[in-house]
Amino acid sequence: MSKILITGGAGFIGAHATQALVSKGHDVIIFDNLSNGFKEQTLGQKLIVGDIRNFNDLNDAFKQHKDIDGVFHFAGLIEAGRSVTEPDLFHDVNVNGTKNLLKVMEAHAVKKLVFSSTAAVYGSPITDIIDEDHPLNPINPYGETKKICEELIHDAHNAWGLEPAILRYFNAAGCDPQGRIGERHDPETHLIPLVIDAVLGKRSSLEIFGTDYDTPDGTCVRDYVHVCDLADAHVKAFDRLDTMSEPLICNLGTGRGFSVQEVIETANKILPTPVAYNETRRREGDPAILVCSIGKAKKMINWTPKYPLLTDMIQHCYAFRKNF
Ligand code: UFG
Repeated sequence: MSKILITGGAGFIGAHATQALVSKGHDVIIFDNLSNGFKEQTLGQKLIVGDIRNFNDLNDAFKQHKDIDGVFHFAGLIEAGRSVTEPDLFHDVNVNGTKNLLKVMEAHAVKKLVFSSTAAVYGSPITDIIDEDHPLNPINPYGETKKICEELIHDAHNAWGLEPAILRYFNAAGCDPQGRIGERHDPETHLIPLVIDAVLGKRSSLEIFGTDYDTPDGTCVRDYVHVCDLADAHVKAFDRLDTMSEPLICNLGTGRGFSVQEVIETANKILPTPVAYNETRRREGDPAILVCSIGKAKKMINWTPKYPLLTDMIQHCYAFRKNF
C-alpha cells in the first residue's frame, strides 16, 4: 500500500480521489488551504492546512510525513470564466503552486505524480472528438496555466526523472453515490449544481450562457464525466506509473456530449420540479463543443466509466445538494 499526498484533497475531485485511495487501503495526507475545499469533505483523513504557493508549507508537509510514495495534485483554480478577469491570480496559484510542488518533490526524491489537467488545454477543437494528440491551443487563462503546468511536468520528467500521469478531465459532475461528499464550490459556477439549485429554489433561475453557438440547439456541448469515475482513473493511473518510461497522458470523459439544453431537459425528466431558466449572452472563454475520445484511457489504464449516464450524475448531485 502506498502513502499519497493529495493537494486539494478537500476540494470536489480531490475529496473523491481521497476516498477512492482510502477504499483501496492506501494511506493519504491531504494538503489544502481550504480556500475552495471544506474540512468536512476530508471525512476524517489527515489534513495539513497549507498553500501550494508557499514553499515552506509544502516542504514541512514532506518533512513531517516521511516516505511519501507519490502525489495527486488537484490544488488550483478551475473556473474558466473567472480566469479571464483574474489571469494573474490563476498564474500565481496554478503555475507557481505547481512549480513549488515539483521543487519540493525533487528535494524529497518523490517521483510519482498524478496531475489534474483539463480539456481546457485544447481550446476550441479542430476535430469533432478530441484525442490526446489534438493541438493544445487554450482560449482562456485557466487552460493556459494548465498547459504551462504540463510543460513544467515534462521538463521535470526530463531533468530529474519525475514519473507523471497527466489526466485531462472534461466536465466533472455527479458525486459520491452515498452522498457523503459532493460538489460544493463557493460561489458555484458549474452547470449541473446550478441546475439543481434552481430546482431546489436556492436560486431563482439558471442562466443559459449563449444560445447562438454552432451546435444543434445553439447551446454549448460538454462531455460530463462522473467524479467517482475520475477518482478511479487517478488510482489506476498511479498504479500504472511504474511501467511507464514517458509521461502518461489521458483524456477522461465519457465520449458523449450533451448541450446545456439537454442537461436541463434531462434534469426536468428526473427531478421534482422543472428548471426555471433565462437565456443570456455568451460567457467569455467558453468553447462551443468539448467531447473527448477515451480510447487511450481504456487502453493505457484499463478505465471505463461506471457511471456514464447523465441521469446518475444529476441524481447523485441532487441527493447531495438537497441536504446542505
Ligand atoms: N453554463 C451555463 N450557465 C451557467 C453555468 C454554465 O449556461 O450558469 C454553461 C457554460 O457556458 C458551459 C457549460 O454550461 O457551456 C458548462 O459550464 P461549466 O461552468 O459547468 O464548465 P466548463 O465547461 O466551463 O468547465 C469545466 C471545468 C473546467 C474544465 C472544463 C473542461 O470547470 O475545469 O469543464 O471541459 F476545463
